Amino acid sequence: LQVDVSNSTQRPIPETLFGIFFEEINHAGAGGLWAELVSNRGFEAGEQNIPSNIWPWSIIGDESSISVVTDRSSSFKRNKIALRMEVLCNSNGCPSQGVGVYNPGYWGMNIEEGKKYKVTFYVRSTGDIDVSVSLTSSNGSLTLASEQIIALASEVSNWKKKEVLLEANGTDDGARLQLTTTKNGSIWLDQVSAMPVDTYKGHGFRNDLFQMMVDLKPRFIRFPGGCFVEGDWLSNAFRWKETVGVWEERAGHYGDVWKYWTDDGLGHFEFFQLAEDLGAAPIWVFNTGISHNDQVETASIMPFVQEALDGIEFARGDSNSTWGSVRAAMGHPQPFDLKYVAVGNEDCWNKYTYYRGNYLEFYNAIKKAYPDIKIISNCDGSSQPLDHPADYYDFHVYTLAKELFSMSHKFDKTSRDGPKAFVSEYAVNVTDANTGNLLAALGEAGFLLGLEKNSDVVGMVSYAPLFLNINDRRWIPDAIVFNSSHLYGTPSYWVQQFFTESSGATLLTSTLQGDSSYVEASAISFQTNGSDYIQIKAVNFANVTVELKVNMTGLNSSNTKVSPTKKKILTSTNVTDENSFSNPEMIVPKESLIVMPDGDLTFVLPPYSFSSFDLLK
Ligand code: AHR
Repeated sequence: LQVDVSNSTQRPIPETLFGIFFEEINHAGAGGLWAELVSNRGFEAGEQNIPSNIWPWSIIGDESSISVVTDRSSSFKRNKIALRMEVLCNSNGCPSQGVGVYNPGYWGMNIEEGKKYKVTFYVRSTGDIDVSVSLTSSNGSLTLASEQIIALASEVSNWKKKEVLLEANGTDDGARLQLTTTKNGSIWLDQVSAMPVDTYKGHGFRNDLFQMMVDLKPRFIRFPGGCFVEGDWLSNAFRWKETVGVWEERAGHYGDVWKYWTDDGLGHFEFFQLAEDLGAAPIWVFNTGISHNDQVETASIMPFVQEALDGIEFARGDSNSTWGSVRAAMGHPQPFDLKYVAVGNEDCWNKYTYYRGNYLEFYNAIKKAYPDIKIISNCDGSSQPLDHPADYYDFHVYTLAKELFSMSHKFDKTSRDGPKAFVSEYAVNVTDANTGNLLAALGEAGFLLGLEKNSDVVGMVSYAPLFLNINDRRWIPDAIVFNSSHLYGTPSYWVQQFFTESSGATLLTSTLQGDSSYVEASAISFQTNGSDYIQIKAVNFANVTVELKVNMTGLNSSNTKVSPTKKKILTSTNVTDENSFSNPEMIVPKESLIVMPDGDLTFVLPPYSFSSFDLLK
């Protein structure tokens, strides 16, 4: 590898090159990053046009001791459904624990000994109430924490909010929340929430999943989708106004593309909060009046344009503005630092006849009101110039490992003028990847090295999808796999960690000589802790060992040599190996110090491996 370190051939890498894409898919948010333990907290969940479905709530007791129905008596305007329990205990006898309902959360709640959980619910009754609020094992036989709520009829004849703080005296990652009573009468329940007190900064993000994101040092976060933004039908698309304000008032919605209900606890505000907490630039993707099956024609698109402008005002407006004041009331008087918006997701396809027309309406209105906001088009400008103005164009690719590896040269010939590419979704998928193996990750590594080298025309890059709750796999593979208590990174996750020094670093000109059809490499320089480093990254996509000889030119007279300090290698015995809950660290980067003779810059690339070598200048 010939590396030129002279100033004349160096190029700054964009500050925002590597980031993440968070989509509400695979229960990434509901039942994932958003730490709410109760699923369907308002009893509203239903599929399209079915107003109410209490799943996954279940009844404790039998027909002779309890009857449960839903009605529309909620005090919350946007979600009218409440649960009504007729308790018949005294006449017919009850189990000792009483009767009521339980919620198993998202395939079991993770309750940990010594940790605290805030349970909130709304209750109404025709008589006095005596309700036990408990966290229990999955079949209810073991109580992990419990408290009694007693109230007189006069207090609960109208809806009343109740809150208890439960401290767990045991650990169970398949736990459930129970609300039970032995007192006869009619009791209504609504908006039942159980939140761990210990979330990132108390902002509601599950700590371990948040940390996995932080470890990628993302410079941006694109959200909330993906197809989630579009919907199969517009009536089920993500509409930001439905997701702000107090959580009890949020209607929730059925995401018909990924086929599950979300209570929208992770809403427009929380996404911006997440970006801020990660130190990543928020990139908001909004609906353009287009879903997979219906579209709004350009002549009628203005309400959608206004919705986008309002969503930007929510993020950026001062606290006296209409929507900025809503944000301020939610606890963030300072504006969020929104500088990028994406006009739709994958909408520049032939079947979406109104995209271009709609896009221009959004573009013109946003540029007029917010000239500094960078606008991302869905149309691909990698092979030919766009026929409309944009600051970036979106580029998505899902393909086989070999194909993605060879796409490391995809942007070599792209015009250096015009908007930059935002490669906001890429992954090796289908059979090559299985559920996330080393082969897929190495294909991606080759592609990413090519993007890093083309970072004069590629401005931002993110893998997709980021998260998978193993209990509801809607897409394979994914970067981070989790259940209620455990997680692991797939090899694709670990490949991304090789690029944490790249954003804002300096690209050095590097040229591979010899047979490079299965090797890709790049060279960057960066500073850390006051020292200057050169980093060589190289992927070996073949079943042979490769000796990589690095030849540096352009070192100046005051600095004539570099000293290798540290190497990192991602590899495994078989290229089809994968991480799993039983073996979560089978394929993770192994770091070691480099010891080699002075002046020698020959590095070994094991078969099917991705390596980085840090050299102190
Ligand atoms: O990442 C999964 C899906 O792939 C996204 O929702 C969509 O944009 C793409 O088709």
